Amino acid sequence: MSQVHVTTEINGDTVEYLCDAEETLLDVLRDRLQMTGSKEGCGTGDCGACTVMLDGRPVCSCLVLGAEAEGRSVSTIEGMSDGETLHPLQRQFLDNAALQCGICTPGILVAAKALLEKNPNPDETEIRYWLAGNLCRCTGYDKIIRAVQAAAAEMRGESNAA
Ligand code: FES
Ligand code: FES
Repeated sequence: MSQVHVTTEINGDTVEYLCDAEETLLDVLRDRLQMTGSKEGCGTGDCGACTVMLDGRPVCSCLVLGAEAEGRSVSTIEGMSDGETLHPLQRQFLDNAALQCGICTPGILVAAKALLEKNPNPDETEIRYWLAGNLCRCTGYDKIIRAVQAAAAEMRGESNAA
């Protein structure tokens, strides 16, 4: 089977890979690039566990072809921390016990980061709407909402908030 040669940018680095024409970006990330942070919950665009940023917009990487990343910019959960220093969202998810099995967590973190870049001070309803496409079967969502609110407050410089 012929393969497609792709040159793209992932988390700020230029990356080249070969993939099958019908191979998803999620499979490329996980199976060819060993970037296993993005999870496959459903493979059909319903759960959000595979969320990555593509040219600055959150997408389900299970619905994007690896070939479609040609010439574009991809951000994944692997690029969220600054070396050993966790992003405030990552730390607040830990501090607020906002994860259990963790399958949904990378996708929710990527989506929540996109929200806070768009709106640094979302209210609870806005957070719930924004994350409506990211399903979690464990937490009941309340701790996730609290963690996003705490990270937002921290990023606004309100260190004692939440
Ligand atoms: Fe992509 Fe569920 S694995 S939306
Ligand atoms: Fe298990 Fe969300 S922590 S699905």
